[in-house]
Amino acid sequence: MNTVTVRVPAKVNLQLAVGPARDDGYHDLVNVFHAVSLFDEVTVTHGAPDAKPGSAVLTATGDRPSRTAGVPLDHGNLAARAVALLARETGVRTGVRVHLHKAIPVAGGMAGGSADAAAALVACDALWGTGVPTARLVELAAELGSDVPFPLLGGTAVGTGRGERLTPAAGNGTFHWVFALAEGGLSTAAVFAEYDRLRPDAPEPEPDRELAAALADGDAHRLGAALANDLQRASFSLRPGLAATIAAGREAGALGAIVSGSGPTCAFLAESAPRARELAAALLESEECAETVVAHGPVQGAVVVGRS
Ligand code: C5P
Repeated sequence: MNTVTVRVPAKVNLQLAVGPARDDGYHDLVNVFHAVSLFDEVTVTHGAPDAKPGSAVLTATGDRPSRTAGVPLDHGNLAARAVALLARETGVRTGVRVHLHKAIPVAGGMAGGSADAAAALVACDALWGTGVPTARLVELAAELGSDVPFPLLGGTAVGTGRGERLTPAAGNGTFHWVFALAEGGLSTAAVFAEYDRLRPDAPEPEPDRELAAALADGDAHRLGAALANDLQRASFSLRPGLAATIAAGREAGALGAIVSGSGPTCAFLAESAPRARELAAALLESEECAETVVAHGPVQGAVVVGRS
């Protein structure tokens, strides 16, 4: 085998409850991750045998030019760090070429960089035939970043700790989403810092029982009403235009409207796939956003879709 391709989903957070800053700078979270049908593809190919062990040579293409803008192609890319980490873990001593094909917005609050890192772990494990158990891949993913374990699992899951300790959530049915993409990204660290400034007295995060019940029942109306993101005010503060995008989605009949993670992507829940398409068209007409994507969730996590 010379090449492996892995498809990996974006996420939206259905609940993002954020506690006070911890001594290590992170925040305890109750973070309900939900994988949606917006996918990046990561293809890994054997590199030169004399390349530095675990080194990755990166290339990237995108569904649109904006999908690769600002994506680092050096060792700073989380996917390159994932390759190096797995090589160290397994003792593999060859380099690898990594191609990212990106549909997930960059620094958009949908964990695209984390998804690519998760996909790189799965792809290299398959390419190298190292057979690392999923539970160990999840631990390695958590070393790379708080959002990296979830795309290995997909579906819907509750993250606690800094978001990396995952428990699958009971769920029924399919939910239909519209995502309003903004120009440029937001730094997750900057949004958390703004949250600390706005909420110095944040309480400990608690799971929302109503949201869990709505998910278990597959009830989009209840889920829409229960969507909640403690980072939203901080994202609005750094990007004031987002409030108008959320308002436009609500006016156009969204069941729920929320900033995705740390933003700036905004997520809108619709009643059905046709309603999602109508909502997307209304959002574009409102001129509050330049681009929309329609997707559904939950979907499965990182999966091998090609080998040759
Ligand atoms: O874990 P990750 O490297 O993805 O986190 C990026 C940044 O987001 C951290 O440096 C931190 O500023 C912030 N963060 C946080 N609390 C979390 C997760 C992330 O403060 N639970």
